[in-house]
Amino acid sequence: MVSDAHRRVIAIDGPAGAGKSTIAKALSSRLNMKYLDTGAMYRAVTYEAMLRELDLHDQRCVAQLAQECDLHVGIDRVIINGHDATVAIRSAEVTGNVSTVAANSDVRTEMRVRQQEWATAHGGGVIEGRDIATVVFPNAVLKIFLTASPEVRAQRRVDQSGGDVTEIAAAIAERDLLDRTRADSPLASSSDSIIVDTSNRAIEDVVDEIEKLFLERSL
Ligand code: CDP
Repeated sequence: MVSDAHRRVIAIDGPAGAGKSTIAKALSSRLNMKYLDTGAMYRAVTYEAMLRELDLHDQRCVAQLAQECDLHVGIDRVIINGHDATVAIRSAEVTGNVSTVAANSDVRTEMRVRQQEWATAHGGGVIEGRDIATVVFPNAVLKIFLTASPEVRAQRRVDQSGGDVTEIAAAIAERDLLDRTRADSPLASSSDSIIVDTSNRAIEDVVDEIEKLFLERSL
């Protein structure tokens, strides 16, 4: 049976730089719902595996770490095994390796269970990721797939963290390809997702649109 909490989820999926985090956070505060960044969970496991110098292609070893780790992902803090990884999980090194760890099926199974437990504990929420609508919460009340042109997505990342736009665009394209082509729960829109292109729109405008869609559905 599908729990009511799993229905009270707004799923926000999409590729890097589509605006997921900004839009999901704004929505959660407007609607007074909890917010979960599932990408931060995969990033934290990747960071911890790198810290322990594990071979990221050793699926069993990385999966065991994922299964045993004490992980807390809050709105502005990420703590893994007692240490604060909030900043470290955004490094270029972690970003470059996270798709390898996220392709590990046993890691995904563990993260999926934790995400579902999180929603049960919080009575739903605004949850962002890559497979939230397709796999983790197929019964979510609202499913949004955010997109933006590759140029806009790369420029947003440069505005956030600096760097060379051509290099960032190439890194994003490589990660997108890995995320879209992996066997287990690849990045994809669900057949019942609403696709929203954020390329030339103000954040507030997109948040307004999603809020309206949610309020219509929850009447
Ligand atoms: O912020 P950005 O969009 O760059 O990435 P993120 O949301 O922090 O996700 C980092 C990586 O985690 C993605 O590139 C995916 O490989 C993986 N991920 C995933 O596989 N499934 C999710 N639900 C969320 C993230």
